[in-house]
Amino acid sequence: MQWTPPLNPKRYHLEQLLAARGINLDWLNSGDIDPYSPANVARHSIVKAAEIIPFHYRGAVTDNPELLSWLAELVTQAREDQADRHAPIAAVTHGRSLLLLGPTGTGKTHQAYGAIRELAIAGVAATWVVTTAADMYAALRPRHGIDSEAEFRRYRNASVLLLDDLGAERKPTEFTEEINFRLINWRYENQLPTLITSNLVPKEIAERLGDRVTSRLIEMCQRVVFKGPDRRRGEAA
Ligand SMILES: Nc1ncnc2c1ncn2[C@@H]1O[C@H](COP(=O)(O)OP(=O)(O)OP(=O)(O)O)[C@@H](O)[C@H]1O
Ligand SMILES: [Mg+2]
Repeated sequence: MQWTPPLNPKRYHLEQLLAARGINLDWLNSGDIDPYSPANVARHSIVKAAEIIPFHYRGAVTDNPELLSWLAELVTQAREDQADRHAPIAAVTHGRSLLLLGPTGTGKTHQAYGAIRELAIAGVAATWVVTTAADMYAALRPRHGIDSEAEFRRYRNASVLLLDDLGAERKPTEFTEEINFRLINWRYENQLPTLITSNLVPKEIAERLGDRVTSRLIEMCQRVVFKGPDRRRGEAA
């Protein structure tokens, strides 16, 4: 963990997040030079999060109660692990997963990126990997000069994985089915926390993803349902 200098709250869109959690900017930017201090872990994680969060969601703040309690659980577990292992910093290792379901524009991706920022500001380290399912399949297609197994392991082993828009492709293929099964099965067996978003309604999940993936998702994920109008359409919705 390297030392990270004090952060400009505007640049990292922290004002609303700090206010929502009652965290003091003086704590975050304390002149502490200990790289293992929770404030430094938070600063480091916020900088890392900003590198992977798309511009549109750069200021996202989670307000979904189920997501917030999932995050609180990850933080508690990471701190308990840290105490048990006498580790210098708290880091996410294991945990439950969430399946965020709902129609287009209801805020699933916004909440998911908010969750990354939330975990960061809590001072808990996590190697997040974020992708849409479609981008992941594209990145994993075997092609010259690419070690697609090494790429697959990056998704598979992430300490927290955001898999956005699962099941959005028109037609599942043998290739996408195999990737889905290998990925979900690994994360299920190793209890690795995964945030999955999807537009599928529950009864379409088995149809689209198959019984074996669905069975694992049901056991490993808490289902969080998003409702309401398409927020992208604003007042017109
Ligand atoms: N709590 C929120 N506060 C402010 N803006 C929000 C909030 N939730 C969602 N939005 C905005 O509403 C729009 C739709 O949200 P989002 O992209 O998260 O939808 P989605 O459910 O992921 O949709 P899709 O299924 O099409 O991917 C985005 O512009 C997003 O920034
Ligand atoms: Mg989305």
